Amino acid sequence: MALVGLGAIGVGAHLPALLRHPGVELTGLVDVDAARRARAAELVSGRLPTFASLDDLPAVDAVVVATPPWVTPVLARTVLERGGYVLVEKPVATSVEAATSILDLPPELLGRLQVGLTYRHDPAIARLRTWIEQRRLGDGPILVRAHIYDEVRDEADAAHLALIGTTLEHGSPALHEGSHVFDWLSHVLGGDGRLEDGWAVRTAADLAAPNLVGGRLSYPDGSQALVEFGWFTTALPPCELTFVGDAATVRLDGHTFDLTITGRDGEDVVRFEGERVPRSFDRQLDAFVGGIQSGSRRLSPTWEEGLRALAASEALDRRVRATPAGVDGGRWAR
Ligand SMILES: NC(=O)c1ccc[n+]([C@@H]2O[C@H](COP(=O)([O-])OP(=O)(O)OC[C@H]3O[C@@H](n4cnc5c(N)ncnc54)[C@H](O)[C@@H]3O)[C@@H](O)[C@H]2O)c1
Repeated sequence: MALVGLGAIGVGAHLPALLRHPGVELTGLVDVDAARRARAAELVSGRLPTFASLDDLPAVDAVVVATPPWVTPVLARTVLERGGYVLVEKPVATSVEAATSILDLPPELLGRLQVGLTYRHDPAIARLRTWIEQRRLGDGPILVRAHIYDEVRDEADAAHLALIGTTLEHGSPALHEGSHVFDWLSHVLGGDGRLEDGWAVRTAADLAAPNLVGGRLSYPDGSQALVEFGWFTTALPPCELTFVGDAATVRLDGHTFDLTITGRDGEDVVRFEGERVPRSFDRQLDAFVGGIQSGSRRLSPTWEEGLRALAASEALDRRVRATPAGVDGGRWAR
């Protein structure tokens, strides 16, 4: 197996998971950036060859692609066309249009692509879905409040300022963070949401897109979701999701994925073993390896699920970027 993209999530989460997995033999590390290659080589004490391009890899039987979404679909296509299996980071592209035009491939090839909706594999999401299915929150629709805040703005960290600056040129936080959240919501609420409205605030003039954005979605069973995505302020509000039903309220801690359910009988906190990030990346990789070993024709989360999560993120991103200046923290725009 090979890893392409040796940036923050590539070396921070995928590489350790690949090195930990007993069923994985890692054969190469790829990045266009020489400094990134050198740093990754150092992390594995020079035990693995590094390459400047996916095209230089001698074998592409299975590849993890952890590159930005404006690069990912082209690399995924190369792997699939060369007969390999591929696990691609979310979002799968910057738009459904880009994703489907670049990955215009037959279903049997797309079945060998697993989308990196990493936290779908976490036991907390499975438990939440079970509680909702078992009506522990109540018989009627529920209200979801999703407060997704990340990426503290630190003027002393030039590399991070540049990364977030570039990322915002390709879309608001709704586009980049939305895939995970819209996937969880569809998964636990049993259907896709319809975007009803959106809002946006740009807290600094130098940002290419509004950095605080949100919207309201309605779900087939009448449930409503109020979602907020926020990046790049000096201090961030708590990152958490709350699910409010007639019989109980559940809080999902966005950092730990601890679940707190509060109902008539009081409060119960459910914690899962291990830390959220390595736990979910290990489980995601295990699903990828298991799918390959069993000769699966349809890895999960599927390409279609990746597209649906992207479509929801894109719809909100488009809505909030079109928000009139008067509502978009208006004074910067004038
Ligand atoms: N699953 C998750 O929880 C999670 C978390 C963070 C980021 N992500 C996603 O992972 C992706 C990467 O994010 P990041 O923060 O690691 O970004 P990053 O910029 O730190 O890393 C991306 C790396 O890809 C390399 N790259 C670019 N084009 C390439 C090419 N053609 N061939 C080989 N390498 C190439 C870059 O040089 C860079 O080292 C993004 O899509 C992001 O949304 C997912």
